[in-house]
Amino acid sequence: KVLILDFGSQYTQLIARRVRELNFYCEIFPFNKIPEEVSEFSAVILSGSPFSVRNEKAPQPDLSKIKGKLPLLAVCFGAQYIAHHFGGRVEASNTREFGRANLNMIKEAELLFESIEEQSQVWMSHSDSIKELPSNAVRLASTKDVLNAAYRIDGEDTYGIQFHPEVYHTTDGKQLLANFLIKIADLKPSWTPATFVDLSIEELKQTIGKEKVVLGLSGGVDSTVAAVLLHQAIGTQLHCIFVNNGLLRKDEFNSVLDQYKGMGLNVKGVDASDRFLDALAGISDPETKRKKIGNIFIDVFDDEATSIKDVTFLAQGTIYPDVIESVSVNGPSATIKSHHNVGGLPDYMKLKIVEPLKMLFKDEVRRVGAELGIAKNLIGRHPFPGPGLAIRILGDITRDKVRILQEVDHIFINGLRTWGLYDKVWQAGAILLPVNSVGVMGDERTYEKVVALRAVESTDGMTADWVDLPYKFLQETSNKIINQVAGVNRVVYDISSKPPATIEWE
Ligand code: XMP
Repeated sequence: KVLILDFGSQYTQLIARRVRELNFYCEIFPFNKIPEEVSEFSAVILSGSPFSVRNEKAPQPDLSKIKGKLPLLAVCFGAQYIAHHFGGRVEASNTREFGRANLNMIKEAELLFESIEEQSQVWMSHSDSIKELPSNAVRLASTKDVLNAAYRIDGEDTYGIQFHPEVYHTTDGKQLLANFLIKIADLKPSWTPATFVDLSIEELKQTIGKEKVVLGLSGGVDSTVAAVLLHQAIGTQLHCIFVNNGLLRKDEFNSVLDQYKGMGLNVKGVDASDRFLDALAGISDPETKRKKIGNIFIDVFDDEATSIKDVTFLAQGTIYPDVIESVSVNGPSATIKSHHNVGGLPDYMKLKIVEPLKMLFKDEVRRVGAELGIAKNLIGRHPFPGPGLAIRILGDITRDKVRILQEVDHIFINGLRTWGLYDKVWQAGAILLPVNSVGVMGDERTYEKVVALRAVESTDGMTADWVDLPYKFLQETSNKIINQVAGVNRVVYDISSKPPATIEWE
């Protein structure tokens, strides 16, 4: 496996993704928490950083067990760090070197640049320059502005590169990473969804033994894949609970429940709609809605889980971006992002946690899901917020409003499917606005609800662009909604990007 040491670069996760795409397993650790058993790793990559190596607050990793002992690829800050601390000289550049550049390779036939053409485009993003290499280093490439764009330390498998191979604009970046891992570190690309499934099943069997596990299904990709993986490992020892909070999409509770049962999962559907909807009556504030829904969910889940005898494990569909410890830019202290799909459980439940997907990125979860034979319509689902339609009904929530929004959403989402647009969109849904507008139907004046449609493109929900849906599609969808959903006389399309807007309206 490959170790990636994080110095706080915004691109560290991207390095991990590229390495995984090449079918190598890797883990990210903060520079100040290098694992004790570092020799278990077969190669190490040092990330970039917002710091200058000349800054006294810059990361100071202890590389004594790494440099010269394991194959090492140092990127940007990493390359400067090695130059600076092992006999070279790093200085501020006159200009910030940012953007595209082209490589002039100095030594041909170097392993790192195998199959990479002269003048290959790379992406630079740094404000210091390596002016002088350590005396035992060999320059491998330059660009027009950067003399030491790549180097190697003699007698070691240590390589430094000033540019970012993980960034899309570095055309041959993936080839370079492959060269490092295959030619230099001598690793075999063996990390595939199939090996992940095999290894995970073995590991889950070991960890869980004969004990019982409870898991909250949401209908979403992560919890579904986690459930199927666990099911393959421990069969009926897995007890799934799927709660209807009354705020799901139209018919979703029954259709997804049927699908889960069809896959052989041991799942109990709990219809707690009334409990949620009663508690939400009269509440308009978005954060209060979220809290109420979270708390009731815990109560319902807790009741069900404690009714299963002798449960000792709680399984969660947590994924890697939720657990990566990233180095905070404001100092060397590590901040931990933690996230619980079930919203955190009361302490007295005292369950041991099992999170079989916690080392996977979202796209890998989908690939593992496909490997497990889960139907495409479940794996390819758009993300849907835990509080469901509650945060898409602006203002207070009534059963009638939920019904109206379910109908509207159903027409919109079905339309996307029929037009072959569903898989081109990252997330879509409808929002019920807390205003009435005047309309005319036949000879009658109407005064009814307005709904907004929202469809966005995104990779992780952190940023998003609105989707340029075909006018014909919007026209057809709007007509259907106004003709078929009583109580709605106006449809608008949301053309705001995130930032500055968010994906949800609440
Ligand atoms: P925003 O609205 O912040 O949403 O741009 C980003 C992504 O997060 C989802 N979202 C939620 N998911 N509970 C969830 O489980 C929530 O309270 C919540 N709020 C937003 C949203 O659907 C989008 O995918």
